[in-house]
Amino acid sequence: MISDLLITNIATLYTMQGEDLGKTTEAALSILGAKLNYFGNKTNAPSATQTIDATGCIVLPGLVDAHTHAIWAGSRSDEFARRLQGVPYSEILEQGGGILSTVSATRKASMQHLTELGQQRLLPLLHRGVTSIEIKSGYGLSVEHEDKILSAIQSLIPKTPMRISPTFLGAHTIPKEFRSKRSEYVSQIIEEQIPRCAPKARFIDVYCDRGAFDLDESIAILEAGRAHGLGIKAHSEQVVHTGISSAAAKLGAVSVEHLERATETDCANLATYGTTAVLLPGAQFYLKDTAPPVQTLREYGVPMAIGSDLNPGSSPVHDLWSCATMACILQGFTPREAILGITRQAAKAIADPKAGFLGLESHADCVIIRPPAGEPPTYESIIQHLNGHRVEAVISKGKLIFSNLPIL
Ligand code: NIG
Ligand code: FE
Repeated sequence: MISDLLITNIATLYTMQGEDLGKTTEAALSILGAKLNYFGNKTNAPSATQTIDATGCIVLPGLVDAHTHAIWAGSRSDEFARRLQGVPYSEILEQGGGILSTVSATRKASMQHLTELGQQRLLPLLHRGVTSIEIKSGYGLSVEHEDKILSAIQSLIPKTPMRISPTFLGAHTIPKEFRSKRSEYVSQIIEEQIPRCAPKARFIDVYCDRGAFDLDESIAILEAGRAHGLGIKAHSEQVVHTGISSAAAKLGAVSVEHLERATETDCANLATYGTTAVLLPGAQFYLKDTAPPVQTLREYGVPMAIGSDLNPGSSPVHDLWSCATMACILQGFTPREAILGITRQAAKAIADPKAGFLGLESHADCVIIRPPAGEPPTYESIIQHLNGHRVEAVISKGKLIFSNLPIL
């Protein structure tokens, strides 16, 4: 049978499956329709109507960014300067800045404008190899504006080759107009926002922290989301320890995220309930924060994913590869854990059993990468060098999105 697309002469192919991550040298991979129909030694590969010569390159599954806030309007470059002078992130939020300043700008923006901004933001991520992305709402904080953001996320779906997982985060913080009557905002989320927004989302998330929601409020919100069919996620133990990571795990959370202040008991609970930890080294870097307990998570066997946390304040990071490197330097990941953290483990965090690996049952999403000059064609080289590699081609849903390589 003739395939649609053959990638051949691959110096090193990683399927990300098995102990050796499916490492094959002098490899090939082919696609028929929206499925992989061959991967392995190049000499046995089927012929195809289009062939890409990937001499010297590495092929990996398309990356998965498991945690972003990619839809917002406005800029917080002023806040960056204040934080550099020593004002803490949570203090800026408590004073009405931070997330709340993005909320005012986002409320003023139309759905169409947010969609355009989102499209512009997704493009560089796609060109760096991300083919699946989770995007949270959370800068609307009212029925109308949360719905508008989720509509913008939905309208991105036909406009990009990326796979988008929308998450409802109406519980990102308490909006200004509800500061003196927070319980009314919690009721609005449960009674109005969730019923309206749930059909446009896959997951519900909550920011349980100082300056945001407390543990009881967070649990009530997550339970309401679950009752509307949403999978559970939670921004957990970032600024202070609240206990939300263990509580969310017991509620069946798919993932809990941040975890800078998670305890050993939390790690044990994540392991017991099969919850994936999503670590966000970009936020740790920008906030000059302490590292999450990676060694303890590792000892308990908790799957560890890495997200960019792309947002306008705590992690204005538009590149998942840099996050993988930062996870090694700042958090103690091994390079192997880091590459798994942006592929297989990240796919667990978005509950997509076909993402993050290459195989006959996987999505036909992959990236062709030239290693940094003079380096061997291995993922270790890409992770060690900050942006020294070049993404030569991206294939998503079986389609060649772009290619700098010769097509034969
Ligand atoms: O994941 N911590 C809460 N939420 C985001 C920050 C969003 C923002 O600062 O705008 C985070 O870091
Ligand atoms: Fe976040």
